[in-house]
This record gives sequence, C-alpha cells and structure tokens, in this order.
Amino acid sequence: MIEAFYAKTEAMRSALNDEMKAVLGFSGEKPDLFHGMMHYHMGWVNKDLEPEQVNAGKQIRPILLLLSCQAAGGDWQQAVPAAAAIELIHNFSLIHDDIEDASPTRRGRLTAWQIWGIEQSINAGDAMFALAHIAMNRLFDRGVPAEIVVKAMRRFDETCVHLTQGQNLDMAFETMDVVTVDEYIKMITGKTAVLLSLCTELGALIAGADAQTVKNYHQFGLDAGLAFQVKDDILGIWGDEALIGKSASTDIVTKKKTLPVLYGLAESEALRDHYELDSNSNGFVETAVSLLTEAGARDYATQKAITYTDSSLSHLDIANPQGEASEALKMLMNFLLERNY
Ligand code: IPE
Ligand code: IPE
Ligand code: MG
Ligand code: MG
Repeated sequence: MIEAFYAKTEAMRSALNDEMKAVLGFSGEKPDLFHGMMHYHMGWVNKDLEPEQVNAGKQIRPILLLLSCQAAGGDWQQAVPAAAAIELIHNFSLIHDDIEDASPTRRGRLTAWQIWGIEQSINAGDAMFALAHIAMNRLFDRGVPAEIVVKAMRRFDETCVHLTQGQNLDMAFETMDVVTVDEYIKMITGKTAVLLSLCTELGALIAGADAQTVKNYHQFGLDAGLAFQVKDDILGIWGDEALIGKSASTDIVTKKKTLPVLYGLAESEALRDHYELDSNSNGFVETAVSLLTEAGARDYATQKAITYTDSSLSHLDIANPQGEASEALKMLMNFLLERNY
C-alpha cells in the first residue's frame, strides 16, 4: 500500500527535493558550516558535512499540498515552490523544537544542537525560516498569478504565527497539572494542524479553486493534522525508537500533556500520584507507560485518531477531489493513521 503511494508521488518528491536544494544552496559539494548545518538537518550531509543522502523525513506536508493542487484541478508543478516552502518551515520548526524539547535524536541521528550547540542551532533555524519565505517568492517564477501568490504569502505568515502560539502552549502545559481536552486541541491545532491545513488550502488556492472549495480543502487538512498529532502522541509513548527515529521517553520525562496522558490523568489516580514525582527518578517512564496502558489511554487516543481521520475524509469528499490524486490523498490518510514511524 505505502509502496504504491510512494511510486505515485515519486515525480513530486523529486521536483520538491530539487527545489529545496536550489533554495538552500546545496550543490552536492561539501558546504560551509552555515549551509552545512541546514543541509545536515535536511539529511543531505553527515556531521562532518560530507554529502550523504539519509532519512529526510516523510515529507507528508509537501505531498499533501501537491496532491491537493492536482485533485483540485491544478498543475502541481506550479505549486512546487509552496510545497518546498512549507517543508522548510516544518524543518525550521523541528530545529527549534528539538532545542525546546531537549530532544537528543531526530530521524535516527543526533539533533543539530547536540552537535553544534544551542546558539548555532537557533541561528540555523532562523536562516531556514527566512529561506522558506524566499521559497514562497519563487511561485512568481512558475507563472502563478500575483494575487494568488500574495494571498498565499499572507496565509503562510499567519500560519507561522499560529504555529509558534501552539509551541508556546505546548511548553506552558509541561508545568500545569491539569489541562483540558479543549486546551489540548487548541495547542495541537497551533503546533501541528494549521500547517497541514495550509498545505491543503494552498494546493487548492494555487489550482485556482473557488473560495468555498479552498475552505473545504482547508478543513480536510485541519482534521488530518489533528489525527496526525494524536497518532504522533501515541508513537511518542508506545512507538519503537528504531522506527520513529526519535526518543520514546522525552514526552513523558518533560511531562508533555499529550492526549493519552490527559486521559490517563483524568482516569487513573495512580497516574496522578505518579506524576507528582520527579520525572527523572528511576523507573519513572516505565511506570508511567504501564499505568497509561492499564488506564486504556492508548485505545482512547487511537479511537480519537480514527474519528479525526474520518472527519477529514468527509471534508475531502465535500471538496469533490478529482482523478488519481484523489485516490492518493485517501491512501495518504490511511497511511498516516496506520503508520509506525
Ligand atoms: C514531526 O513531524 C513533528 C510533528 C508535528 C508531530 P513529522 O512526523 O512529519 O516529521 P518528519 O518530517 O517525517 O521527520
Ligand atoms: C512538533 O511537536 C511541532 C513543531 C515542531 C511545530 P512535537 O515536539 O510534539 O514533535 P516531535 O515529537 O518532537 O517530532
Ligand atoms: Mg515540541
Ligand atoms: Mg519535540
């Protein structure tokens, strides 16, 4: 199933990677440190800055954008700069997020801050943020009408602001004992879902779809993003580190208020008592995971991910997607729900 999906989207991935390499100035030669830190995070060079292609992430956001463009009747090639821009914003947010979450690994390798330190990694993230904006500008070069590009850029910036608001809540919640499900939804809407909804929205916008269709695509992406984050919460507790490429204990150690944890804290007195302890104490994570499993937190969150996926698919239906891209979008939603990485 996933192989068929990858085969269908290979041309898109290749155009996307060429575009991102052009924007980040990757020529295939050994880069200087400034570019090299970004190229390392993107999976194009190793920590000695020698060119080496490794795990570059799932790239689900840009593919979501290009498929939405095609399903809404557009030429996906025209949308490649926006797809590259969003993947760069995503990667900028990960460079900073790994500092914010004190995460040692990402995509199976050391995080940038572990190699070059926090100060230089903040700077590398800043550079990538600015370059993502330059990537958006390249929509003009592909003949996308100016009024659409300007609208797309405004939505891009609004989304960046919303994303940082989500990150603010995510960190603020670490030290709060009680967080409601509504507050949690507000937080993941910001930190994750609005970026996925920007993908589906911009895909339709660049395709020249009418305002109502663009809204329907936006809603499809928003619920897809909520489903995606709930699944990520599950993998952050019960995932296999070798597959997810990141730690499966930092969410618990930092007392992140993920959906399974919210449920566990509401349902299990034992877990509430446990969360009074210092999370660095011996066996804290293992005990927390067993209490969460016993409380049924995994099943609860899995059910929520299914509900958001169903809702996103019904919004997609309302948007009336066309052709092969429509099938590929449905395959993608199924993969996001079933994935183990
Ligand atoms: C990780 O996103 C960050 C979240 C918003 C959950 P992805 O799981 O898409 O990360 P990569 O790009 O595939 O590594
Ligand atoms: C990532 O959130 C969201 C952003 C980077 C904006 P998480 O902190 O939950 O994701 P992982 O687990 O580090 O990938
Ligand atoms: Mg985080
Ligand atoms: Mg993180």
